[in-house]
Amino acid sequence: MIKSLLLFFSSHISKLFISLVIISLSNFSFAAGEKISYPQLNWSFSGILGTFDRASQQRGLQVYKEVCSGCHGMRLLAYRNLKSIGYNDDEIKAFAADNNVNTINDDGEVVERPARPSDKFVSPYPNDKAARAANGGAYPPDLSLIIKARPDGANYLHALLTGYVDAPKDQKVPDGMYYNKYYSGNLIGMPQPLYEDGVEYADGTKATPDQMAKDVTAFLAWASEPEMEDRKRLGVSVMLFLFLLTALSYFAMKQIWAPIKEK
Ligand code: HEC
Repeated sequence: MIKSLLLFFSSHISKLFISLVIISLSNFSFAAGEKISYPQLNWSFSGILGTFDRASQQRGLQVYKEVCSGCHGMRLLAYRNLKSIGYNDDEIKAFAADNNVNTINDDGEVVERPARPSDKFVSPYPNDKAARAANGGAYPPDLSLIIKARPDGANYLHALLTGYVDAPKDQKVPDGMYYNKYYSGNLIGMPQPLYEDGVEYADGTKATPDQMAKDVTAFLAWASEPEMEDRKRLGVSVMLFLFLLTALSYFAMKQIWAPIKEK
């Protein structure tokens, strides 16, 4: 009786443990209340073992820099963070130095200096009001966490960037607004940002809007969760460890109870 109870508990508790680990590893997206459905793509970074595609991320950084950064900041990201997507110190230094930041000189005056690797990404506008004023009243949100901030963020962003189509005849599109089939309400204050060959990729990849949308999404997904690969690696080790521990406990239990079974 005691033995069967113990067996019951040991097998079920370990199952519970493993399910908890799996649940905590998987990326939940609460899509409640969503009416618009968009294409579900196969991202290299989704799933328990998913990792980022470095080449795609680097192309995505280029798209961000050459297209999005005119309107959107990424103020949580520092230039030196780009090391994790495969850039070396000199490249990062040069990349940062393309931007200027304000600083105060010895005479107490505000002057500009080139950004350093330790600086955060320089935002295109000095403040939120300036950002609105330049965009017809619409606020271009900071993109540092955008993939996490939207349900099913990666698929949503890719859809949004490729979702500019002609408005249906009965739909009025006011000045300064654009029709997007994936944006909630369909009218967005962001003009279509991606056009065929909008950037020229150094690795020869053809810059279609779809490709650029995928690349910039891969880059922004990393920016939203730079520790994702480490988290998944740790998760897998924890699962392996728990599996071994479960097996070990099972055999230990068999050994301990063996003399009683014999009687
Ligand atoms: C000309 C300026 C401009 C450019 C360039 C631009 N955006 Fe936007 N973006 C905006 C504005 C303005 C809004 C706010 C729209 C609104 O609230 O209606 C916006 C909104 C967004 C949103 C939020 C949508 C939502 O669900 O609320 C995302 C995501 C976004 N942009 C991503 C991008 C990406 C990625 C790029 C580069 C490929 C880009 N944008 C290029 C101006 C721009």
